[in-house]
Amino acid sequence: MTTEKIEIFDTTLRDGEQSPGCSMNLSEKIKMARQLEFLGVDILEAGFPIASEGDFEAVKAIAAEIRETKIAALARTTELDISRAAKALEKAKHSRIHTFVATSDIHLEYKLKKTREQILEMTRNAVRLAKNYVEDVEFSAEDATRSDVDFLCEVFKVAVEEGAKVLNVPDTVGYTLPTEYSNLIKTVKERVVGDKNVTISVHCHNDLGLAVANSLAAVAAGARQVECTVNGIGERAGNASLEEVIMVCAVRADKMSFQHNIKTSRLYPTSQMLSSIISFGVQPNKAIVGRNAFAHEAGIHQHGVLSNPLCYEIMTPESVGVPSNDIVLGKHSGRHALIARYNELGYELDQNEVGEVYQRFTALADKKKNIYDQDLLALLLIQTPALMAA
Ligand code: KIV
Ligand code: ZN
Repeated sequence: MTTEKIEIFDTTLRDGEQSPGCSMNLSEKIKMARQLEFLGVDILEAGFPIASEGDFEAVKAIAAEIRETKIAALARTTELDISRAAKALEKAKHSRIHTFVATSDIHLEYKLKKTREQILEMTRNAVRLAKNYVEDVEFSAEDATRSDVDFLCEVFKVAVEEGAKVLNVPDTVGYTLPTEYSNLIKTVKERVVGDKNVTISVHCHNDLGLAVANSLAAVAAGARQVECTVNGIGERAGNASLEEVIMVCAVRADKMSFQHNIKTSRLYPTSQMLSSIISFGVQPNKAIVGRNAFAHEAGIHQHGVLSNPLCYEIMTPESVGVPSNDIVLGKHSGRHALIARYNELGYELDQNEVGEVYQRFTALADKKKNIYDQDLLALLLIQTPALMAA
């Protein structure tokens, strides 16, 4: 069975970087860009060149350095934005201008103060101008999920007429639901794309915690580009998390079988690199890359995992690049986990010794949340001085 490909459009350095606590300097952005290429993203949105001199320089430097991955630069629909994006991309081997304008009535009335006719005109001019600079132009309808569907399709049709190759349907405020988003993607596919060589892209924010679910619903409905960020960083509650989107496709290939270029064993190192650059890490229970994502504390789980990891693990830590299974010893840990850890430390305990050490271990675990190797060695010393001397 041949499976279709989804393209991963990473916006860690644009939508991610523009959120609080995530700003990066030039050398940090270049370091991250190299890692994202190594990870295998197809398109890397390097910044918003008109936004600042720093953004312009970062896009320029990344475009000059990265040779495999396509580099995208963001631009509103103005001439100045588009020419600035084109200038920053001049040295890129593969480039894309990503131009956007809002299409929802609320944005038109209160933010842009424009009519629908004006938005259609702005779209036409922007895509036409961008096509003078680069072959690959992506058009985004900001706040698409709160836009009037007929108008949204009209705008997209204009973008396609002018040569846009990618139509992005952002859920800018993280408002949509999986079934609703899926229907919207199907509508755009039927009414705008048809059999044209145009890719539908999705870009979901996580305000209701649905960014990944919405992105995947859209993929199931025909979208073939997913915009996402490492660790899910991004405006407000963030963007769809790259590692979660990819691992759903890997673990649930039975239902979501898509080819992609991401090397999953590089997910965790990439996540770690980002955390070391920005001012916060991921929550401990974050899926895929959180500190506890593969840690089992409850005794019954530890026994199961030690007997056969498949009892509680749907993917291995190694598959996402986590060094090894991180079992935390604590008051819920059972004898099996304790014996296993002593074995790893080089001690074989007989049944009596296990019984005695386990009693002391549970007494200590009642007082102390996490038990470290030093504690285990101390327990052994109290209990069986002969063993320690051996
Ligand atoms: O969330 C959004 O709508 C965006 C666009 C610029 C694509 O980030
Ligand atoms: Zn966004």
